Amino acid sequence: MRRNIVWEGADQLRYEIREIVGTARHLETLGVPMIYENIGDPIKKGEEVAPWIRDIVTGLVSQSESYAYTATEGDYHTRDVLAEYVNGRGGCTINGDDIIFFNGLGDAVSTLFAFLKREARVIGPSPAYSTLSSAEAAHSGYGHTTYKLDPENNWMPDLDDLEQKVRYNDAIAGILLINPDNPTGAVYPREVLLQIVDIARRYDLFVLCDETYAHIVYNGGETCHLSEVIGEVPGIAMRSISKEYPWPGGRCGWIEVFNRQGDANFNRFIKTLIDAKRLEVCSTSLPQMSIPLVYGDPRYREHLDRRAAMFGERAVEAVEILNRIPGVQVNLPRGAFYLTVLLDPERLEHFRPLKMAPAVADYLNPLTAGAPKDKQLVYNLLGGAGLCTVPLSGFCSDLPGFRVTLLENDDARRLSIWENLSDSLSRML
Ligand SMILES: Cc1ncc(COP(=O)(O)O)c(C=O)c1O
Repeated sequence: MRRNIVWEGADQLRYEIREIVGTARHLETLGVPMIYENIGDPIKKGEEVAPWIRDIVTGLVSQSESYAYTATEGDYHTRDVLAEYVNGRGGCTINGDDIIFFNGLGDAVSTLFAFLKREARVIGPSPAYSTLSSAEAAHSGYGHTTYKLDPENNWMPDLDDLEQKVRYNDAIAGILLINPDNPTGAVYPREVLLQIVDIARRYDLFVLCDETYAHIVYNGGETCHLSEVIGEVPGIAMRSISKEYPWPGGRCGWIEVFNRQGDANFNRFIKTLIDAKRLEVCSTSLPQMSIPLVYGDPRYREHLDRRAAMFGERAVEAVEILNRIPGVQVNLPRGAFYLTVLLDPERLEHFRPLKMAPAVADYLNPLTAGAPKDKQLVYNLLGGAGLCTVPLSGFCSDLPGFRVTLLENDDARRLSIWENLSDSLSRML
């Protein structure tokens, strides 16, 4: 090429959660039966969408307006309804204009970071959810800047670490948090959220809170929405129907913008997001139009409660089994539907690889040469036990471990996954 056409952030675009699938699929062709525990798709793992939610979607399919464009920012009625939900909780008040729809939060995240000034950094948690950390890193062209989540304190954010980094790095313009968190399952109490907002207030930053799992909280977890604690600080909450209905294939997510008028620079940034969206026209109409009907249905509360209790029970079941293995530490998740398995670094350093067919080993070995130890173990689990998980090193973390999901819907199959995992880890560590 006469000119270098590769963008500075190209090397930062990593998504281990999906990258490992290519390897797993190849192993299947070599005869390894595979269980996919890498991706957070409840439908793929056997959950049926409630018949009444399907009925609502089916009803919309037969309405002409479902086939039309919406306004650039999203369907007016849906945005007004969502603003009423925010206002009904108390705290910051917004109106429909403060809500912008995207084709899933993945789209919201990439738009947001694509149009954030390159020098402005957003500090996020470690372990990190790769869509967010990679988008942030790619926009800046450098590695993602992170604060620690503390496994010895139920994965709560290390607020001293956060504040020190904010204080000494004036490129930081925003604080990112995921509540409930992916991959740790941590749920941040109101007090912790208030302290994060307080840091943002004192250093003149905005807060970006991913609330994808806001309605999947269990096992005594207590939290609130960002809107309830944000006060007068500029903030953005990110919401989605992917994990709640669940309808991940609907590609429907939105942002709620708080205190836009209070800061001219923040307001201009939000206007840029809308201007960018205008070039795209709008997001997919039908899933947006389902939201007032689904959220407003008396069965929705029961639906959310039932699912939260279900994941709560699955979390307890998994933690009890996995925590019996020497060298393994798992904190009980209180939200979302993931589990982070931490591995003792000493044992991991000398782990005993599982046996596998020579063709499988020949394929995997070059892929893990020089890789972090947890990735080596995860790829060994892939070839030796047919379990596809995601190494924690793929989540911007220097703590060794991996992430699994709580999504397998078939009770017997789920138990056999934990048994397979527990048996394999006991032999390896
Ligand atoms: C924390 C978090 N944010 C965002 C997303 C993406 O959601 P969506 O399907 O709305 O793009 C996910 C998906 O797993 C997630 O876990």
